[in-house]
Amino acid sequence: MIARETLARDLERARQRTWALTDFDDAELHRQYSPLMSPLVWDLAHIGQQEELWLLRDGDPNRPGMLPANIEGLYDAFVHSRASRADLPLLSPAQSRAYCTSVRAAALDVLDTLPHRDDDAEVAFRFGLVISHENQHDETILQALNLRSGAPILAHRMTLPEGRPGLTGSSVLVPGGPFVLGVDAVTEPLSLDNERPAHVVDVPAFRIGRVPVTNAEWRQFIDDGGYTQQRWWSPRGWEHRVQTELSAPEFWNPDGTRTRFGHVEEIPGDEPVQHVSFFEAEAYATWAGARLPSEVEWEKAAAWDPQAGARRRYPWGSAEPTPQRANLGGQALRPAPVGSYPDGASAYGAEQMLGDVWEWTTSPLRPWPGFTPMIYQRYSEPFFDGDYKVLRGGSWAVGADTLRPSFRNWDHPIRRQIFSGVRLAWDA
Ligand SMILES: [Fe+2]
Repeated sequence: MIARETLARDLERARQRTWALTDFDDAELHRQYSPLMSPLVWDLAHIGQQEELWLLRDGDPNRPGMLPANIEGLYDAFVHSRASRADLPLLSPAQSRAYCTSVRAAALDVLDTLPHRDDDAEVAFRFGLVISHENQHDETILQALNLRSGAPILAHRMTLPEGRPGLTGSSVLVPGGPFVLGVDAVTEPLSLDNERPAHVVDVPAFRIGRVPVTNAEWRQFIDDGGYTQQRWWSPRGWEHRVQTELSAPEFWNPDGTRTRFGHVEEIPGDEPVQHVSFFEAEAYATWAGARLPSEVEWEKAAAWDPQAGARRRYPWGSAEPTPQRANLGGQALRPAPVGSYPDGASAYGAEQMLGDVWEWTTSPLRPWPGFTPMIYQRYSEPFFDGDYKVLRGGSWAVGADTLRPSFRNWDHPIRRQIFSGVRLAWDA
C-alpha cells in the first residue's frame, strides 16, 4: 500500500509543475502553437476534469460533477481532436485554475480517508493514475512550448552534470535467458494496466548501447548521406522521408544550430539526439550496422538483476530517482550529456535508461498475456493493434514520481515533436 503522504506529495509536485508551465497571460494560454498540440488552457482544465472524474466520481461521467455537462464535454480527449480545441468555448484561465483548485481540495479530503477503508488499494491506485495523468500532460505542455515560435518564455532552471568521454558507440552484453517482464499490483501498486501482469519471458543474448545515440553521431549519419540514401530506410520510412523532405532531426536549423524552447544554440555533440521519428531511428540503426531493441530487450537491460535473479525497481536498485541518478522532472529542458549518470547504471551497465530521452523500440503496442483493463478502460485498449511503436525509459520531461522501467509509452512512427531518441541494439 502506497503511503497517503507519498500520494499527497506527488499530487502537489505535479500541480506545482502544472502551475509553473501555465504561468502565462490569457492570450498566451489560448494560443495554439501547432495543430499537433492543444492550447495550454485546454490542458489546464482537462487535468482538473480527469482528477474530478477519477477521484470524486468513481470514473462515472454520468454522475453529476462541478462543471455543466456541455462544458465538461469540451475536455473529452476522445471527442475533440487537438487541432480543434482552440476553437471551443473553453473555460478562461482563471476559471480553469479555480476549477482545478476546487477539485484538488475535495480530492485531498478523499485522500484523508485513507488508510482505513475496505477499498484502500483501489483508491490509492486512482490517485496514482491521476498523478501520472497530470505529469503526462505537463510533458505534453513542454512539447507544445517547444513548438512555440517567438522569444523564449521558459528559463533554464537547472544545471546538469558533466558527461564522461569514451562511452559513445560502446555497448553492453545482456546474456540470453529468462527474466520477469512486467510488474504486478504487489511490486508496483500504481503500475498501469499495460505494464501487467508480470510474466517470465526468455530472451536470446543481445548487446545494447551503453548510452543513447548522440547528436555528434547523428551528424555523421547526415554527413554520410543518411537522409538521401534509400538503402538505410524501410519502404514506409523512405516514403515518409521523401514526402516530408526530412533531412535532420526536428528543431535542427540549416546553419548547424538548433532551436530549443525559443533559444537558438549550438548543438552539443555529446547530448543524446532527440526529436527523431521511429522511421529516422530505424534508418540510423541500419546505417550504423545495428538495429533498435525490442521493448522486451529494453526492459531486461534496464530492470533485470542477473545475480539476484530478480527485477530491480529502478535500473540502479530500489532507491528513488534523484538528480544524481537520472535527468527527470522537466526542469532541465534538455537531455544530459552521455555519461552523466554512472550511479544510474543498470545491472548490465547500461546508463541513462530512465530520463533524458524516450527510446524508440521495434515493438508495436500490444497487451501482455493476461492483460486486464483498469478502471480507465480507454487508457491502453483503444491503442492496441494500432499503428504505434513503443517508446521506453522516459525523457527529461517526465515526472520522476510516475516513471518505472516497466512504463510503456507509444506513438505514431512519424512523430518527433516528442522528446524521443535512440539506443541501438545488436544480436549477440
Ligand atoms: Fe488526458
